[in-house]
Amino acid sequence: MASYIKVKLKPKEEDRLLAGHPWVFANEIEKAPKTLAPGTLVEVITHKGEPVGRGVANPTSKILIRLLTRDFDQEIDDAFIAGRVRKALQIRKGFGDKHQTNGIRLLFGEGDGLPGMIADSFGETAVISCFSAGLKPFIPVMSKTFQENGYKFVYEKSVGEVCVKEGMAEFQDWLTDPGKLPISFFEGKAKFQSSPNQGHKTGFYLDFREARKRIQDLSAGKVLLDAFCYTGAAAIQAALGGASDVLALDSSQTALDEGSQNAKLNGVENKIRFEKGDSFKVFKDLKKGGQMFDGILLDPPPLAKSAHDLPAARTALKRLMGQALDMLNPKGFLVVGTCSHHFSWTLLEGVVREAVEESKRSFRLLERLTQPQDHPINLSIPETEYLRVLVLTEINN
Ligand SMILES: C[S@@+](CC[C@H](N)C(=O)[O-])C[C@H]1O[C@@H](n2cnc3c(N)ncnc32)[C@H](O)[C@@H]1O
Repeated sequence: MASYIKVKLKPKEEDRLLAGHPWVFANEIEKAPKTLAPGTLVEVITHKGEPVGRGVANPTSKILIRLLTRDFDQEIDDAFIAGRVRKALQIRKGFGDKHQTNGIRLLFGEGDGLPGMIADSFGETAVISCFSAGLKPFIPVMSKTFQENGYKFVYEKSVGEVCVKEGMAEFQDWLTDPGKLPISFFEGKAKFQSSPNQGHKTGFYLDFREARKRIQDLSAGKVLLDAFCYTGAAAIQAALGGASDVLALDSSQTALDEGSQNAKLNGVENKIRFEKGDSFKVFKDLKKGGQMFDGILLDPPPLAKSAHDLPAARTALKRLMGQALDMLNPKGFLVVGTCSHHFSWTLLEGVVREAVEESKRSFRLLERLTQPQDHPINLSIPETEYLRVLVLTEINN
């Protein structure tokens, strides 16, 4: 039996935790025991000594403890972590057939009871990212569980600012025999290649899958602009849906090169022009040049990484929306997304409504989309809801 260090909360700090939120911040505890190290197992108790939960600590992180269970009889060991992974795989059974894809998020951190862990699958490869030094020692058992459940290859990509915040060394490499890079997979009719080693995140934005499907459904015969295209996934789905011409912009040349390869793979390279640029600037030139589009997709990177960034994020999105509306043909459609949990539905809809009102045009809100079911939202943890997408079509007055 493992031993657990007791950590006492300050008075009245337990409500959020007892309501299901798993993060314990350093300023919420009475006094951090000196023996806490990254990965130390802990038992958190209220100031009065009542049980709150068991979890893992990381004294170098602002999130001092991530709770993993409320049950003080539950051992946090390999068997427990393997059980959580198996459960996550079980709730995704049939997901690929239903959504006609073999690109599926397998672990979504707090949404799957494994705070700080992400895993995406592309065919028979699983790509794991660990953003919690506390869970790092359990990576081998997670990898083994994926292999036992049909994922022949496992790649770990734990890199970036989050690692620095967690005090973790960056790491990326195969945890199994090496598979092939880039990794091939499919989404509906489209074939894609994803490069975890050089791309963003695990290599691909699986979370935008449903938005891409809507764009495809609206695209037949249309001239489109995909303003933040990454590796061209939405532009390709649009072209496969019959779009006649797509301008796909991104600031990353690596992403655009991969996008061109993906377009060729799908036989739509003649329909998509990939161009490098800063969309905020390129929009001005496109407008000056009198370019017009029947459909515009705005899926910028997270504009608000913290609540502090919200005013600037709001201004940036409003400007983008205004410019997009100026370049949108009558009866056109607009898809606008934000991928920051700070940017609430109220805020997003407010910005979009203001821009639409200023354009003196009328749009119907066809659909609100959030992240798909393989990115499960944990209702007690607002941070797990982060993707919000509005689909608008112009009302023909
Ligand atoms: C959320 S991703 C888009 C994902 C895409 N919709 C998909 O389906 O794969 C945002 C993209 O915006 C790009 N980006 C960031 N700043 C940019 C800018 N100022 N202008 C153009 N692209 C930018 C990033 O390189 C990234 O590829």
